This record gives sequence, structure tokens and C-alpha cells, in this order.
Amino acid sequence: MFIYKDVTLKEIFDPSEYVNQMTTLERDKLNIRNADQAIKHNTWESIFEIFIKKTNIGYVKIYKDLENRKAYINGIYILPKYRQKGYATKTMILVLYYVFFYFSMHKFETSVFGFNKQSYNLQKKYLVFESERKESLFHRGKFYSKYYFRLLRKEYADLMFKYKINIKDIKVL
Ligand SMILES: CC(C)(COP(=O)(O)OP(=O)(O)OC[C@H]1O[C@@H](n2cnc3c(N)ncnc32)[C@H](O)[C@@H]1OP(=O)(O)O)[C@@H](O)C(=O)NCCC(=O)NCCS
Repeated sequence: MFIYKDVTLKEIFDPSEYVNQMTTLERDKLNIRNADQAIKHNTWESIFEIFIKKTNIGYVKIYKDLENRKAYINGIYILPKYRQKGYATKTMILVLYYVFFYFSMHKFETSVFGFNKQSYNLQKKYLVFESERKESLFHRGKFYSKYYFRLLRKEYADLMFKYKINIKDIKVL
């Protein structure tokens, strides 16, 4: 569990999912015989439920690319009635901690379509804009660009300093 102020991220894990995605040869190569061994090899996706006290208010999914030491957000969702209260922001702070401290990644990457203003704002505030793919989605009669953001390991400390985020306020249980 990762805790920052009133937000807790709890990892959910179904080992069979990971084992089923492997071929027999891969399983043999990694010597995966059971669920416990599969957990140790869960190096590609982490799914977290977001809790406020005992209420599950959303989720965030993170893909990890260990070979290139990169992590991506593959979806962040907050239930509508809990939006605009800073919960996604705190989740992002925990995700960055998880990526850079817990998993020692080199780079964090996200992307968002232009129609999604709230997600765009969140990414723009905490990450560094990297590129735009112009008009790459046709959505409800209009073309929208896709925007790519990043944070490098060496940029993470500056971000923490800028937003006065104290690493000591993050708890790992
Ligand atoms: C995108 C999404 C995750 C943002 O969640 P959220 O919890 O509302 O985000 P936050 O509350 O942290 O930030 C939203 C706004 O509230 C403001 N805010 C932050 N703390 C606040 C607080 N304590 N009280 C009131 N507002 C606050 C933020 O400054 C931000 O304002 P801005 O958009 O003008 O920058 C949410 O809208 C969502 O689930 N959308 C649907 C799924 C989706 O599109 N996911 C992204 C796919 S790329």
C-alpha cells in the first residue's frame, strides 16, 4: 500500500492473468510454477485501486518496461462525484514515487487526447511536455491531437521541490 495524505493506493493482483499470458516455454525459462512465483515476475503491469478511507474511488494502471527502465500510465480514473478534489493529483504523486523510488525507473511517460481537458491539465502541471501528434483521433465529429508528456528521473527532484512535496509524507505499508 502507498499512502499520501488521505489517498491510499492498493495493488490488486490476479496471478493467473500473468501466468496465462505466457507461453509454456516462457514459464519454463523463468521457472514459474505457481502463483507466488508469478507475483515475483509481475514486472509489466501494476493495477492500483484508489481509496479514501474505506471507499474505493478509482483506479490507476501502470505498465512497466524494465528493459528500457520506463513506466507508463495506462489509465487513471476517478469516480465523477470524487473529482475536482485533488485526488488524482495525490494519486499522481504516489505513482511518481512508485515509479522512481520503488521501481527505480529512468523515465515516466503518459499521453492524452486534446478533448480530455482535465487529464491534460493534470499531466501538464506535473510532467514535461514532449510532443504532439496532430489530429490523430476523430471523436464526435472533430479531430483531436494526442499529447505526450514525460518525467525523467533527474527531473523528478525538481518537481518535488517545486510543489513542496515531502517524500517523508509518503508511507509504504
Ligand atoms: C482526469 C481525472 C483522473 C482527474 O481527476 P480529479 O480527481 O478530478 O483531478 P484533481 O482533483 O486532482 O484535479 C482536477 C482539478 O481540481 C483542482 N483541485 C486540486 N485539488 C483540489 C481541491 N482540494 N479542491 C478542489 N479542487 C482541487 C486541480 O487544481 C485541478 O484543476 P485544473 O484542472 O484547473 O488544473 C478525472 O477527471 C477522470 O477520472 N476522468 C475520466 C477518466 C479519464 O479521462 N482519465 C484520463 C485518461 S488519459
